[in-house]
Amino acid sequence: MSEPVIHISDLTCTYGRAVILSGVSLTIGKGEICAIIGKSGCGKTTLLKNMLGLVDYQIGSVKLLGCEVCDREAVEKEGIFKRMGVLFQRGALLNSLPVVENAALPLEMHTKKKRSEIYAIAREKLEQVGMAHASHKLPSELSGGMLKRAALARAMALDPEVLFCDEPSAGLDPVTTRSLDLLLLKIRKETGVSIVVVTHDIASIERIADRVVMLDKGTVAFNGSTAEARSAALPALKDFFS
Ligand SMILES: Nc1ncnc2c1ncn2[C@@H]1O[C@H](COP(=O)(O)OP(=O)(O)OP(=O)(O)O)[C@@H](O)[C@H]1O
Ligand SMILES: [Mg+2]
Repeated sequence: MSEPVIHISDLTCTYGRAVILSGVSLTIGKGEICAIIGKSGCGKTTLLKNMLGLVDYQIGSVKLLGCEVCDREAVEKEGIFKRMGVLFQRGALLNSLPVVENAALPLEMHTKKKRSEIYAIAREKLEQVGMAHASHKLPSELSGGMLKRAALARAMALDPEVLFCDEPSAGLDPVTTRSLDLLLLKIRKETGVSIVVVTHDIASIERIADRVVMLDKGTVAFNGSTAEARSAALPALKDFFS
């Protein structure tokens, strides 16, 4: 495998007394698109949050871009948060700000660039996701697919090395899902970004994923190529792909 961007070993994560993830180990290579699948509530978003160091109770090791995510000092020193982008499950755009200002936010927060330069980059990112025409609109004025595209432009604002997407196609029709997938593939081709995508969408997995990781009962039930996932004998996977 190519150089890992994420290396998780023996991760356990609990919320109160509930053990959500237990003994999870996983490595994601540079430039790889890895799909995380599993039943609703099985811990996919929790795993993503663990990769981002956004949970309080984490046992084991989670390295993102070579840095232990719970080591706040190291994360700060290595500028890890500037080197990744996140497309949240619900888009998470700021409703009071027009699209272009949403896309500019990471640049405002993490760089010292001039406003004119920041807006030029934000517009360029919106152009790349086919949203230049809607840059002045408020999130409440956008369709579901447009919201996802705007959120993707924001996630890509800092040219991240790793992009996390939590159910990017949820609520989208198949045609819009396909165009979002093609966009992710185009971005990967152009930038070499590694993508971790949580999804329930089989067509999407077939189109974009190099690898599939299935969570079940808090553990990794399957980890292999998309072709292997398709022909695996594991009942949960068979159910999923049928
Ligand atoms: N902040 C939290 N505090 C307590 N329990 C939580 C919290 N976040 C998630 N959980 C619980 O952890 C479990 C896993 O949740 P998670 O959001 O990771 O599931 P998921 O696989 O992403 O589900 P979905 O496919 O519906 O998005 C669920 O039982 C959920 O109720
Ligand atoms: Mg989720």
